[in-house]
Amino acid sequence: MEQVKNNTLYIGGVSTKKLAEQYGTPLYIYDQDSIEKRIEAFKTNFRSEQFATQIVYASKAFLCKAMAALVEKHKLGMDVVSSGELYIASQSGFDMKNIVFHGNNKSREELQMAIDQRIGTIVLDNIAEARELAKFKMKEDMDVLLRINPGVEAHTHQYIVTAHIDSKFGVLKTEIKTIKEIVQIIESNPNLHFKGFHAHIGSQIFDRNAFKAEIETMGQFVSEMKQEMKRDFPTLDLGGGFAALYTNEDKPIPINEVCAVIIEQCESINTQFQLNLKKILIEPGRSIVAEAGYSLYTIGFTKDTPHKKYIFVDGGMSDNIRPALYQAKYRADIANKMNDQKDQEVCIAGKCCESGDLLIEKITLPEAQQDDLLVMYTTGAYGYSMASTYNALRIPAVVFVKNGKDSLVVHRQTYEELISKDEGEIL
Ligand SMILES: Cc1ncc(COP(=O)(O)O)c(C=O)c1O
Repeated sequence: MEQVKNNTLYIGGVSTKKLAEQYGTPLYIYDQDSIEKRIEAFKTNFRSEQFATQIVYASKAFLCKAMAALVEKHKLGMDVVSSGELYIASQSGFDMKNIVFHGNNKSREELQMAIDQRIGTIVLDNIAEARELAKFKMKEDMDVLLRINPGVEAHTHQYIVTAHIDSKFGVLKTEIKTIKEIVQIIESNPNLHFKGFHAHIGSQIFDRNAFKAEIETMGQFVSEMKQEMKRDFPTLDLGGGFAALYTNEDKPIPINEVCAVIIEQCESINTQFQLNLKKILIEPGRSIVAEAGYSLYTIGFTKDTPHKKYIFVDGGMSDNIRPALYQAKYRADIANKMNDQKDQEVCIAGKCCESGDLLIEKITLPEAQQDDLLVMYTTGAYGYSMASTYNALRIPAVVFVKNGKDSLVVHRQTYEELISKDEGEIL
């Protein structure tokens, strides 16, 4: 929860000034309560009497051991896409049965690790992977899903049907022969159990109809496969993509509503196509962590050009690549001048050696001075997880705040850590 006291922003009951003094900047701050409320909102609303449901947190949005522990505390599943994410989950004490392992190019080493870690579910992406996986000897059973490209693609406010047939992800829904072969390959290994299909149509989706179109398409597809193979496919995984509020123009579908839309549509296809579905999964990432996360920077120099006023901060595209990568828009405030009049139109620029390192192109803020604090809102998803050490800027620390308390969950990368992999030998 955000509050303003003495002209200063408090997050989760903790002063941003105090956090900057204690941990330094740039700093990623997560309101733990806000994450937990969103998780609970999904859990409460994503329920059906017709089938079991599971919320699988897409850890690519934000992952560290504390986040994995939080996901475990609330008994969600977790989607990982690499041996690195798998390792972080395993090191946090996460129940590996609740792992769903994705990825279009899992290596043999990653498959072996998934088997050794006894994960619950793997999502195959193509037939080559099915062949590779079926060769492994394993002691435990594993559920298998196959990622399908349903030909429905959503980009924020729009969605397109029969688009993007050349996606690198999944098998096209029309490739029935290949899909049948994949099912047969998987079932040739007694420890592998082919349960059903997965689809994911995009990210930051605002349009209810995009999800409806995805589910309708998948319903028809599963029905076709049932007839083709004379068997049931009891599990359907619908991926993530639920939007978050970045700017005041954004109108994300509230969690309870998007859950209701999905459940209703799944129940409808289940009846209409007599699918006999037993379990539905969704994989929210951004919608759980984005709005719970904040980036705190210290303002350095300012600069006036003929047409612009720049405010420079002590981070940039290295801790938040999204503005440079996707022209993502953000809200911000001067965290120690929350009630001051906003009368300066400025551009917030980072300190990386790229002209494109602009965090916010245009925003109206109070007059900024050196050593003021800039807070950017909704930076909890794909910020830390996409951070780099470009220009050898060190990865910022991550702090969780809740009920007036703060906890350092990832320390700021040290200079020693920055060169810890660097052998320094020349030939
Ligand atoms: C397969 C899959 N599931 C879930 C997600 C999470 O999406 P979001 O963070 O938009 O909810 C992604 C994101 O790329 C994905 O590829």
